[in-house]
Amino acid sequence: MKNLIIGQSGGPTSVINASLAGAYKEAKKLGYDKVYGMINGIEGLLSENIIDLDKYLDSKENLELLKRTPSSYLLTCRFKLGSPATNQETYEKIFTILDKYKIDSFIYIGGNDSMDTVESLSDYAIFKKKKQNFIGIPKTIDNDLPITDHCPGYGSAAKYIAITLREIIRDNTAYGVTNPTVSIVEIMGRHAGWLTAAAALAKDDTCEGVDAIFLPELPIDIDKFVDKVQKLVKKKPSIVIAVSEGVKTTEGKFVCEFNSTAKEDAFGHKQLGGCAETLCNIIKERLGLKVRPIILSTLQRAASHLQSLTDVEEAEMVGKKGAELAFKGESGKMVIMERVSNSPYKIKYSSFDDIHEIANLEKKVPIEWIDQENDQVKKPLIDYIRPLILGEVEQITVNGIPQHLIRK
Ligand code: F6P
Repeated sequence: MKNLIIGQSGGPTSVINASLAGAYKEAKKLGYDKVYGMINGIEGLLSENIIDLDKYLDSKENLELLKRTPSSYLLTCRFKLGSPATNQETYEKIFTILDKYKIDSFIYIGGNDSMDTVESLSDYAIFKKKKQNFIGIPKTIDNDLPITDHCPGYGSAAKYIAITLREIIRDNTAYGVTNPTVSIVEIMGRHAGWLTAAAALAKDDTCEGVDAIFLPELPIDIDKFVDKVQKLVKKKPSIVIAVSEGVKTTEGKFVCEFNSTAKEDAFGHKQLGGCAETLCNIIKERLGLKVRPIILSTLQRAASHLQSLTDVEEAEMVGKKGAELAFKGESGKMVIMERVSNSPYKIKYSSFDDIHEIANLEKKVPIEWIDQENDQVKKPLIDYIRPLILGEVEQITVNGIPQHLIRK
């Protein structure tokens, strides 16, 4: 008897369930007897909120629906295990539950913080000579995990950003000189600007693109920003600016914290959000222009109707690879993607041996890929993103509405 448990953790993406589908399918193929799911990640495991995935996923139709379902099918958590020295009881409880269900392998699909959980459990198991092995599968719209070329979830969110920004530009232009408008679009991504950079892909021969892109990798000088808008508005009546939720001023203060202090989660991450409104208010006060803050918030990570086919296929593949590693008994490793070539776009799936070099670290956009002078991004960054958003997924609809897999 060989059993596996899978969990999802951290912020959802529109393809995190494709990784679950890939891991589940491969695990069954390889010969795991039972594949369990933990509800609400490690937090659910601790309260034995465990389901038998065979009851929910054992049909081709359900797996196809699952791949098109946004949010985390198994629900999620932001739970910090802490160190075994101070939380030994919690660690022991986890292993007691794993033993009770005769679980040999543990797969966690998540971002930086979730890899911290994989790292801690794997280290503990080795130290205490426990039989279980622990594997990480990457996901995050922030695309900020080190070592892997990119993260599943990013491509679809980037596609949503590129398409939505283009639609916003079209709309913003409609009134022309009769009603000049400055729209500031706030994009997720925490302290990395990968997702906001995708706004650059709105531009082509038929679309002028966004007027400025502000990433958290560089501080925003508020006076220069106002100056820029003033100059732009003299030339054109429609201004659209993309800004990362995590941008800071030259004084090192989060723009979103101008009016109130952001709350923190278990990992000490501030809940960012509100910088578009702050910047719009500044423009309104100083220049008296019509402004519109647009906060994409949850939409950008839940828009499964705009999934990138490339992203869905890759998410499934990293899931598959994760199950393979788990079955071999590997531990403390994360599946990674290496870009073998960009044109034609080719990816190789492998694993990174030391999760310590991944957990809790953030990969930022290289400064040399940012066009500081024009507040835009440079071609290598556009070339890096473009293949990741390619391809469309045919939706399964009823009455014109895409269908999702729900747990009954
Ligand atoms: O890490 C993914 C992410 O979507 C970030 O871009 C965002 O800042 C954060 O999660 C929001 O987290 P939550 O949904 O827990 O508030």
